[in-house]
Amino acid sequence: MKFADARQLVQIKAPVMSRRRRVLANAYNVEEYRNAARRVLPAGIFDYLDGGSEDEVTLRRNRAVFDGWGLMPSWGPVSGPDTGTSLLGQQCSLPLTLTPTGATRLFHPEGELAVAKAALKAGVPYSLAGLSTVSMESVAEHYPDLDRWFNFGLSADAGARDAKLERCAAAGYRTLIVGVDTRALGSRERDLHNGFTAPPALTLSTLVDIATRPGWWTGFLRAEGITFPNLQSGNQPSTVVTPSMWQQILGHSDASSGWNELEELRAAWQGKIVLKGCVNPDDVARAADIGLDAVQLSNHGGRQLDHMLSPMDVLQESRQRVGDRMEIYVDSGIRRGSDIVKAIALGADACSIGRAYLYGLVAAGSPGVSRIIDIFAEELRRTMTLVGVSSIAELKDRGPGVVRDVRYAAQFLDREGKDSKDTGLLAAT
Ligand SMILES: Cc1cc2nc3c(=O)[nH]c(=O)nc-3n(C[C@H](O)[C@H](O)[C@H](O)COP(=O)(O)O)c2cc1C
Repeated sequence: MKFADARQLVQIKAPVMSRRRRVLANAYNVEEYRNAARRVLPAGIFDYLDGGSEDEVTLRRNRAVFDGWGLMPSWGPVSGPDTGTSLLGQQCSLPLTLTPTGATRLFHPEGELAVAKAALKAGVPYSLAGLSTVSMESVAEHYPDLDRWFNFGLSADAGARDAKLERCAAAGYRTLIVGVDTRALGSRERDLHNGFTAPPALTLSTLVDIATRPGWWTGFLRAEGITFPNLQSGNQPSTVVTPSMWQQILGHSDASSGWNELEELRAAWQGKIVLKGCVNPDDVARAADIGLDAVQLSNHGGRQLDHMLSPMDVLQESRQRVGDRMEIYVDSGIRRGSDIVKAIALGADACSIGRAYLYGLVAAGSPGVSRIIDIFAEELRRTMTLVGVSSIAELKDRGPGVVRDVRYAAQFLDREGKDSKDTGLLAAT
């Protein structure tokens, strides 16, 4: 072989200098974005994002349950495949939504605006948290065409409820997503051990952290202080959150609301309502009976009640109970396109992601969130093709025929092996 021929075989990649671009070029799946996020964030903030409650049994099971279902392809031609679907009457490019995560500016200075931008670009809905660090109006002004949902907290005070509903309607939020899994705050013991506060308190270990995570600290200290503008009424200036206010706000929970308040909300709100955070088919059936439009089966990503069931444990039964009276979404542990295929086969209309998009945000800002959504889209298309379905409608038609219960074998899988291994691919980042 001549030297000139051999030279054509050698591919030399120019070194990529920016950390963000290196991640975007080298991370191929959600887990690799998670590893990149771990390198960016101060340890206490990463644990707040990534951790679960108590023994984190639910957190671990949220991934393991997906191993309990095997995919069963059928042979035949596939066209497309077309991942488009309709959610609550609106066309989406994917059966995917971005679920609410509070205090997003803690993870990246652009916070919720960066997430909203990526959701609009991808053509999927974004649920803004009640405890968002950008106001619902600001998201609406920046991204008027985004399908915006708002994480609405139930309240026995009808006056306060109606004022908040007016505010949601004025800002063009068409869907309320009502959480029912925070009657008390889950005990996140990683946060206790880390002495986690938001904003982070300046202690000796924080100073060490500043030296090892200069990028995050520079962004954080340059940005405006963290506020929760949705908690303030429209014309009140937002107060910068101090660590003690944070503890108070997060620790505040109201266990007194129930079905009455939900029925009153149904009567007071003309738009769509999604119930988020139940895994009990009785609750799902009752939500359909009182005219809610969808449920998002969820255990809050393993952050609330440890040992709580996974949505995948109750999905088929929930679908059987409500038939096609309401849409069903699944969150908690969604990390792969194949997870979406399994969930839809077992009765879901869509899946919703939390930590996955936050990893992208931390690692590479809004383009990182876009990349995470693209990864789900690519994996979903590939899995659909390999399984042998051409559209989401066909996947729903084939339903449980696409999967087999292999839970008996899942226990032998070394889940820790692949998921927890930092391959070092991004070590230079
Ligand atoms: C950092 C963080 C903050 C969250 N904040 C909220 C919130 O304000 N309201 C809410 O209903 N759920 C919240 N969640 C839960 C998510 O909406 C969702 O149920 C969960 O993240 C799904 O699991 P996954 O992270 O494994 O995708 C939060 C989750 C995380 C990771």
